Amino acid sequence: MRVLLLSLFLMFFVRTNNYVNATNYSIDAISNIGCNIYSGKWIYDSSYPMYDFSKCPFIDNQFNCKKYNRPDNLYLKYRWQPFSCNLPRFNGLVFLEKYKGKKIMFVGDSLSLNMWESLGCMIHSSLPNPKTSLTKKNGIAEILFLDYGVSLLMYRTPFLVDMVKENIGTILKLDSISDGNAWKGMDVLIFNSWHWWIHTGTSQPWDYIQEGSQIAKDMNRLVAFNKGMNTWARWVNKNIDPSKTKVFFQGISPTHYQGKDWNEPSKSCKVETQPFLDTKYPGGTPEEAIVVNKVMKKVKNKAYLLNITTLSQYRKDAHPGFYSDTHGSDCSHWCLPGLPDTWNLLLYTSLIS
Ligand SMILES: *[C@@H]1O[C@H](CO)[C@@H](O)[C@H](O)[C@H]1NC(C)=O
Ligand SMILES: *[C@@H]1O[C@H](CO)[C@@H](O)[C@H](O)[C@H]1NC(C)=O
Repeated sequence: MRVLLLSLFLMFFVRTNNYVNATNYSIDAISNIGCNIYSGKWIYDSSYPMYDFSKCPFIDNQFNCKKYNRPDNLYLKYRWQPFSCNLPRFNGLVFLEKYKGKKIMFVGDSLSLNMWESLGCMIHSSLPNPKTSLTKKNGIAEILFLDYGVSLLMYRTPFLVDMVKENIGTILKLDSISDGNAWKGMDVLIFNSWHWWIHTGTSQPWDYIQEGSQIAKDMNRLVAFNKGMNTWARWVNKNIDPSKTKVFFQGISPTHYQGKDWNEPSKSCKVETQPFLDTKYPGGTPEEAIVVNKVMKKVKNKAYLLNITTLSQYRKDAHPGFYSDTHGSDCSHWCLPGLPDTWNLLLYTSLIS
């Protein structure tokens, strides 16, 4: 009995001292807490989602599940809860004040687009009278918060490395990044790549793959991705001054086409309405995430990993599936509002602390 009381007392003591009050947090407390914000679980939160799909002007039809009449709502109601601390509530005004006049650029594929639109919606919904513009110049899309001069940019480049049309066809160049000038001068950069590396057949946009002077018809895609990511790491090391630019890599976003990954082999994301609520995901860490982890060691102190893979693996319920403009079975992108809002909350947590 005495032991039980003591441990109850200790639990209470530890909680009240280590936990940050989610509704009244202090930025200092978050940065001092030294907690792994990626280790945690999904819990029901009646205050979620963070915004209303019908009020956000930035959601593409491919992510706009509610517009396409997704009938269930529970998937909107989950909040990420780290095991050993609380995350702050997202506060768009705090973000705009801190990043006044600054530029934040997402660089990558449609999962970057997914996260970029989510951040636009999250900030937009925090403002009583949002004044924004949405423009596209030289292939770069921009959401601008006019009263603050805060610019959210989206640079589409699915491989990060170059893809060039030459006489013999389109060549993916594993060791060259010539687009990088457009990424310079940013205050925050969030990179992402992977999903296009595995495309084959008609959805593969290149004909040849080149490294140095060697041109091949194809190669192991994980090996190619590793080479491309190393080229990215060299670009970061050469071009980034960490006192001027905060660089993130948006970790590997998992897909849910194969129910065997969560021990329900006959299913896919299309029928899922609940997260995987256990803590050990049967699918394990994807090989591509292991590649990313290794490469991140080469950009230590220059770039930070948003380690979203595990927490996103749990969200087999959060994809559009049938409910988008294509009415296909999209188990790769994510509904908005939805999971990318949590990626942005984790980005926000890192940026404001
Ligand atoms: C909330 O924050 C204010 C301002 O920092 C502080 O004075 C107050 O004590 C906090 N309240 C709680 C319940 O933590
Ligand atoms: C990412 O987070 C998961 C879950 O907490 C953890 O198992 C994994 O080791 C982390 N990876 C890295 C590279 O920090």
